[in-house]
Amino acid sequence: MPIRHGMTCNQFIAEEQRQFPAATGEFSEILTRIVLAAKIVSREVNQAGLLDILGATGDTNVQGEDVQRLDVYANTQFIDALSRDCYISVIASEENEDLIHTDESSQHRPGKYALALDPLDGSSNIDVNVSIGTIWSVQKRVSEGPRGTSADLLQPGTEQLAAGYIIYGSSTMLVYTVGRGVHGFTLDPSVGEFLLSHHDIRMPARGGIYSVNEGNSPYWTSGTQEWVKALKGKDNPSGEPHSLRYIGSLVADIHRTLFKGGVFAYPLDSKNPEKPRGKLRLLYEASPMAMIAESAGGAATDGRQRILEIQPESLHQRVPLYIGSRDDVEFASSFHREGVEVR
Ligand code: AHG
Ligand code: MN
Ligand code: MN
Repeated sequence: MPIRHGMTCNQFIAEEQRQFPAATGEFSEILTRIVLAAKIVSREVNQAGLLDILGATGDTNVQGEDVQRLDVYANTQFIDALSRDCYISVIASEENEDLIHTDESSQHRPGKYALALDPLDGSSNIDVNVSIGTIWSVQKRVSEGPRGTSADLLQPGTEQLAAGYIIYGSSTMLVYTVGRGVHGFTLDPSVGEFLLSHHDIRMPARGGIYSVNEGNSPYWTSGTQEWVKALKGKDNPSGEPHSLRYIGSLVADIHRTLFKGGVFAYPLDSKNPEKPRGKLRLLYEASPMAMIAESAGGAATDGRQRILEIQPESLHQRVPLYIGSRDDVEFASSFHREGVEVR
């Protein structure tokens, strides 16, 4: 079946699988489980104002953040959908301090894959009806034996087999890559299917938008402050002062950057001494988004090196992030290579 606008995501996944004659179908099955969980979470998000699902649970997660009820709901749905039949052996989720093992009670052969998951990204925006999302990444296990280990997740981003996000916005979209282009599917609730709406998305080489929380500027390095000052003038790749757009949900800010170009950044800052490497997490935010950005012709660094080349050391490790159009990320990185410490 040729790739055609409007085909379902599952048909697209099956067509892509045909490019790999040796494929067993397990990887495709993982993607179809992600699609299922996305539909379930989308239904809940789109009715959140009516259902008793908003607000905080009163708990704080390993990140020290207030857990929203929709965080827990999304976490449960994605873990349940991806735990069955154990194609995925082990999961690292933002909402769980330790690894989640899916094949404890299974008689099956151990799963061959590992998943990194931000079940609900943009939690601070849930209650005010601003776009939020889910971010995921699939790795091939490197450990032997019946149970996955953290080594299966602590691999450089270059080893990711697939990465994607769902954005629950004015429409719900699933955007993912297996390294062969970035493709977008829009949920048609009337048929309950994600339909191919954006085949082979390409990020503009440069853009006129920068996206950063300027409220943190007193805590930035001098390099970051010089960079943002240059973006507001003409001494930058576009030769014009940039516009600022900041939604506060990584998925939404990246989705806009994917289509309009420009740069998103969450720089190192001294605001949170307990978060010395910035706010965003490597395994389930920066790394999957970096695979998507690079597969669409963009770039992603921590200011000094490709995000995808960072060797992770812990599950919830944080990194500074500069991601977007190739020329804009290169420009941003040129202000940070010397790695000046924060003020
Ligand atoms: P999460 O809701 O998964 O914790 O992620 C929130 C992140 C990310 O979505 C966004 O880019 C960033 O937090 C915004 O942080 P600030 O509110 O500090 O700008
Ligand atoms: Mn997040
Ligand atoms: Mn989250």
